[in-house]
Amino acid sequence: MEQALDIALTVNGTPVSRRVLARQHLVDFLREELGLTGSHIGCEQGVCGACTLRVDGEIVRGCLMLAVQANGCRVETIEGLSDSKELAPLQKAFHERNALQCGFCTPGMLMAALDLVRQGGEVSREKIRQHISGNYCRCTGYQAIVDAIEEVLHGKG
Ligand code: FES
Ligand code: FES
Repeated sequence: MEQALDIALTVNGTPVSRRVLARQHLVDFLREELGLTGSHIGCEQGVCGACTLRVDGEIVRGCLMLAVQANGCRVETIEGLSDSKELAPLQKAFHERNALQCGFCTPGMLMAALDLVRQGGEVSREKIRQHISGNYCRCTGYQAIVDAIEEVLHGKG
């Protein structure tokens, strides 16, 4: 019989308690148990960045973390950050610069970009490219994404 464990965490500021299978990944838990489908699943091996989340303030791969590892943690998803308007300048810049096509990579890309914006300081285009290098986009060629992030970093968003 598969092992199940009780976990308690906060997700987008709301306390959540559930019994989960020990092998369930955090991104699957969020999507299947809580209906938070903004975090996408691509490679399921930590490469593409589609599942990027924030756990206790740090961005993580939701496909590489088990739900039980998030016990006691503060998890934030694209839904929570959108509702809080924290993402608004980046969302506006992505929209205006056509920095998305199919949109599959976009939630993870926005989470990664927001992490860079929060760090602040002088940020070159090269540093932006490095920071999002773990987030794959198969559509845009990245140019418009870098433009959008740069616009927000330079306070024009
Ligand atoms: S689905 Fe997690 S990094 Fe690709
Ligand atoms: S917009 Fe399609 S993968 Fe990035």
